[in-house]
Amino acid sequence: MTERIALITGGNKGLGFETARRLKSMGFRVYIGARESERGIEAASRLNAEWLQLDVTDEESVRDAAAQLSKRENRLDVLINNAGIAGTRKAAAELTGEDAESVFATNVVGPVRVMNAFIPLMETSTNPVIVNVSSGLGSFAITQDPQRFESQVRMPLYCASKSALTMLTLQYARALPNFHINAADPGYTATDLNAHRGQQTVEEGTDAIIRLATLPPDGPTGIFVDRHGLVLW
Ligand SMILES: NC(=O)c1ccc[n+]([C@@H]2O[C@H](COP(=O)([O-])OP(=O)(O)OC[C@H]3O[C@@H](n4cnc5c(N)ncnc54)[C@H](OP(=O)(O)O)[C@@H]3O)[C@@H](O)[C@H]2O)c1
Repeated sequence: MTERIALITGGNKGLGFETARRLKSMGFRVYIGARESERGIEAASRLNAEWLQLDVTDEESVRDAAAQLSKRENRLDVLINNAGIAGTRKAAAELTGEDAESVFATNVVGPVRVMNAFIPLMETSTNPVIVNVSSGLGSFAITQDPQRFESQVRMPLYCASKSALTMLTLQYARALPNFHINAADPGYTATDLNAHRGQQTVEEGTDAIIRLATLPPDGPTGIFVDRHGLVLW
């Protein structure tokens, strides 16, 4: 079987790094995107993977990364939009437009910019797959379920940014029927994003991402899953 080529944004640590490690161990050719070169080089060497300077909030950086990759590869099979930030933890009334622009710039505008830049290189893949790393905190159903911890979380901007990313997933899946474009909810996982308060390991947190990244050609598109199965929108 031909080696599959994957790119993971924000691949230098946390869930992105673990996703890269797992895909590499499954025989993928792995590129990680990292916004900061020292962190990218160090992580790539630990993974024995390739790296691209890629800041999802920076148009030129994303364009350059796509140009670099297209010089090295004739296609991209799997794109994982993983880079994300939690943003400020201020109370709702204190949130500013600037706070909102910052979270949406990374978590929503970033994946749009990255898809725009890399989709041309994915069109030559026989099985192009995009995984958007969303969150149960962006699910209207989960955040209204009193049994779920997500219903207790008050992070308006982060939650709204992940709802937006999940809807983008559905819309892109409808618009690009030759692709598999799906959203993953990793679940609450110990990473720097939550000062390692998450209860899952990064291995558990990447189960849904790996499942979606390795979908066969007849797999589903436009779905939202966690490590247990389908997630309510
Ligand atoms: N951990 C959880 O419980 C959890 C649950 C649900 C969803 N998620 C989602 O999972 C994804 C990964 O989060 P994580 O928990 O692994 O967090 P993390 O350990 O903080 O890692 C985030 C990664 O994103 C990168 N990043 C941030 N802004 C970027 C930008 N502008 N351009 C490129 N890369 C950027 C970071 O790079 P630097 O090292 O340079 O900062 C880092 O590599 C996020 O989208 C997050 O929202 C996490």
